[in-house]
Amino acid sequence: MIKKTSIYSHPLIDHLMEPEVQEEAREDHDDKQVVSEIMARCFIPTLVTSISWEAFHFVGHEIRITEAKDCYGAVVWPSALVLCYFLETNAKQYNMVDKNVIEIGAGTGLVSIVASLLGARVTATDLPELLGNLQYNISCNTKMKCKHLPQVKELSWGVALDKNFPRASNSFDYVLAADVVYAHPFLEDLLLTFDHLCKETTIVLWAMKFRLEKENKFVDRFKELFDLEEVSSFPSLNIKLYKAVKKKSKECIISSNEDMEVFR
Ligand SMILES: C[S@@+](CC[C@H](N)C(=O)[O-])C[C@H]1O[C@@H](n2cnc3c(N)ncnc32)[C@H](O)[C@@H]1O
Repeated sequence: MIKKTSIYSHPLIDHLMEPEVQEEAREDHDDKQVVSEIMARCFIPTLVTSISWEAFHFVGHEIRITEAKDCYGAVVWPSALVLCYFLETNAKQYNMVDKNVIEIGAGTGLVSIVASLLGARVTATDLPELLGNLQYNISCNTKMKCKHLPQVKELSWGVALDKNFPRASNSFDYVLAADVVYAHPFLEDLLLTFDHLCKETTIVLWAMKFRLEKENKFVDRFKELFDLEEVSSFPSLNIKLYKAVKKKSKECIISSNEDMEVFR
């Protein structure tokens, strides 16, 4: 759980408010506090250069991320910061040391880098066109700093999963995902991918940005296959952090094409 310690506790204010209003005001204040702490981990250089990069501070390291502005995966999204902050501040409960971790939709690689700095054996994945920049960021920020050098691998959701990530030889302790659900046509493939990568003991840590109704539907669909727990919520960012494990029931089979219509 991301710990939200409140400093919103003026006794006079507390006394004047209804309990529900008090609670709401406290949650709102706590949200803003933690969010400003998370956002403060990002540092944008004032110097204008031809290379665009941002620095982030996690796990005692300055992580420099090179961004390209031409696609979704080429910038660091706020959900990635939320997930990195969670991994850092909950490193005891979600111990990454020597764990097999895969990140899907890794984009610039920040989350994978933080997981590697925390000691995990990481495979960072994304679409083929993202891999060059992803590899560059991962190499620059993990060489000589990590116990296990992370791998970068193509994983296009739903594509050749049995061939490229055979269940028999892959066993992930964690699947990490930040901001992978938005208005794209691969939502069912994404669900298939989560399902394929997880065995019953795998923990999914997923930071989800809510934008459209379609995305709420994805959460409902996800819940058919996984037991989902909301670990933290950041209303000012419209982001929720979820933990999920695969349902044990044999009934959760990826359903037919009719069900997929929900995402179209
Ligand atoms: C909004 S970005 C988030 C990037 C990164 N996780 C972050 O939070 O900064 C979504 C990511 O999903 C990846 N993505 C989109 N469609 C995909 C697909 N069909 N297969 C694999 N990755 C995909 C994009 O390339 C991009 O890196």
